[in-house]
Parts: sequence; C-alpha cells; structure tokens
Amino acid sequence: MTRSTNMNILGIETSCDETAVAIIKVQTNQKSPIFHVLSNVVSSQVKLHAKYGGVVPNLAAREHAKNIIPCLEEAMETAKLSSQQIDLIAVTRGPGLISALLIGTSAAKSLAYAWQKPIIGIDHIAGHIYANWIENRNIEFPILCLVVSGGHTELVLMTDYGKFELLGKTRDDAIGEAFDKTSRLLELGYPGGPAISRVAENGTLGKFNLPRPMIHDKSFDFSFSGLKTAIRELVISQKKITDSTRAEIAKEFQQATIDVLISKTIKATEKYYPKTIILAGGVAANKELRKQLGIAIEKNVSKTKYLMPSLKFCADNASMVAVAGYFERYKATNSPWDVQTDANITIA
Ligand code: KG4
Ligand code: ZN
Repeated sequence: MTRSTNMNILGIETSCDETAVAIIKVQTNQKSPIFHVLSNVVSSQVKLHAKYGGVVPNLAAREHAKNIIPCLEEAMETAKLSSQQIDLIAVTRGPGLISALLIGTSAAKSLAYAWQKPIIGIDHIAGHIYANWIENRNIEFPILCLVVSGGHTELVLMTDYGKFELLGKTRDDAIGEAFDKTSRLLELGYPGGPAISRVAENGTLGKFNLPRPMIHDKSFDFSFSGLKTAIRELVISQKKITDSTRAEIAKEFQQATIDVLISKTIKATEKYYPKTIILAGGVAANKELRKQLGIAIEKNVSKTKYLMPSLKFCADNASMVAVAGYFERYKATNSPWDVQTDANITIA
C-alpha cells in the first residue's frame, strides 16, 4: 500500500480588489496530485470601488491592509490547521497594483519569517491558468491558454509546469477593461462584465454594426480600444438610450469580443496543435464565451480537450495561487526577503 503524503499550502492574493486567502491540501502520492480546497476566503471590495466606476489603488491597498489578517484567521479556522501544519506559503508577487500587491507580499513574508516556512512568489496570470488544475487532473501538454481578465488578454502556450510562451497579447485595453468601460458608457455600473452579460441576455444580434478588431490580422495580438470608441460614438448618436437599445448594444459588443477571441484561439490551434485548450481569468466567467468557445473547438479541433475553471475559481482567488505554488515549488525560498514584488511582470 502506498503511504499517503500530504502537503498543505497557504495562498495569498491581493493584486487588485479582492483580498483572498486560501489553504489547499495536496495529496501527492498519486501519479497526478489531487487538490482539496480546505478554505477559500475572498473579501471583495467591489461595492467600495463601484461608486468610482473602477478600482482606486490607494483605497484598495487600505482595504487589503484592514482585511488581510481577518481573512487569514478565517482561512486557518475553516481549514482547521495550525501554523505548524502549513508546508509552503504562495503569494501573488505581480502583475497588479503595486500598493495592493505590497500588502499581500509583506504579510506572506512576515508569516514565512515568523513560522519559518518556505515561500514562493507567484505570477498572477500563471495563477489564473493553474486554477484549471483545482478541479481537473491529468491535463495534457501542450496547452493553449486563453487568458481573459481585467488587466490582461493573452494567448499563452504552456509546454510544461512553469514553462510559458506568450503568443499574443492586447495592444491596448484588456478585454475585462473593455467590458468595464462599455458598461460605464451604457450606465450599467461596475464591474461591467457581469452587468453587460446580464443585460445582453435580453438583446438580439444584428441591430448595430460593431467592428471585430484585428480579427483578420495574422498575429495573435488583440485590440479592444477601437471597439470602446465605436460604442461611445454609437451611444452619442442615439437621441435617447432605452433599456432595449442598451441590451442590443451590450449583446453586439459581447459578441464582437467573443468572435475575436474565438477566431484567434482557433487560429493558434492550427499552428501549435495543443492537446488541451484552457480558459482562464475573470472574463472566463462569461457564459456565452464559455459556451461558444466550446462549440468552436468541437467544430474545428474536436480532438482537443477543452477546460475551464468553475465560476468561483475564474475571478481572483487564492486557491489558484496555492495550486501554482505546488507546481512551481522548486522555486520556493527559505529567505523571505528573496521574494520580489513586481507590478509589471509578464508571464514569458
Ligand atoms: O481576473 P479578474 O478577477 O481580475 C484581474 O485579474 O483583472 O478579472 C476581472 C474582470 C473585470 O473586468 C470584470 O468585469 C470581468 O473580469 N468579468 C466578466 C464577467 N465576470 C467578470 N467579464 C465578462 N463577463 C462576465 N460574466
Ligand atoms: Zn485576476
């Protein structure tokens, strides 16, 4: 009989407007590890930032500073673990808002120092990608990752754990940012992604004409700022904007972004032949994107496996950071001061 070997990892995430602390137990005696989420605490600041229409960095940092210890206490209590039972601390070191990141990394470094535990700094985007391992096992490489979040829109080829190649990225606005700005133009509130997708359910396609930026471009780069400008002009051209016009614009906008994302993803499969395609990041919670990408994969590359995290692991959370910590644990250090916070790191 194989002896069971477990590892408990504490994850901390404060790159934007969620203070998140999680503890995962990893069963490592398997061919492919099994992750058990013992606690997944997320304290969202959405309501605080909503009145400003976006995240205010200094306010975010103040909230993280206030909430990080209560979140840690709740995560430890829910997991029913003591500090001695933690084997590794994983913390988001970037990219993100520097004032917000510093709260998480400082807390993690202090814990690592006081508890005498190894610590590892995690790339937030890698964290979003690793979120796919929380509920799936034996994911086959190479993996094509479509990363769609508030700050990033990227196609990443993952050839092994910790090995990422950036194939393309947005040249201006990120997709989530485009949803948030469009929502503001349509007066639908913040965060824009859930608001736009909710309103779009009542809309019909084809009422308005919107561009599909860079859809025919040979590169794997994206651009969404022109789409936002087109919406602004559309809104200005309407004498009075009714709820049904809002729904039609939201529907068309959402479809324009989905068309571009799908087209580029399928094009990348024709060049890189991935065994798996995964969706990652906050915008991966978009139901239409989840569904339509699945249909396109089935139609064009039906042998390629398609995975996405469940909704609670799409948005920022610390379980994904802890899982990333497991796969990249060989980079951990016993000297907490070696972990460098970096607001602008890129995945590859
Ligand atoms: O990954 P995330 O939680 O934070 C960053 O790393 O940026 O992503 C947040 C973004 C926001 O822009 C939000 O509007 C968007 O994800 N989002 C959505 C949906 N839910 C959240 N966008 C489109 N459809 C959704 N259902
Ligand atoms: Zn994120």
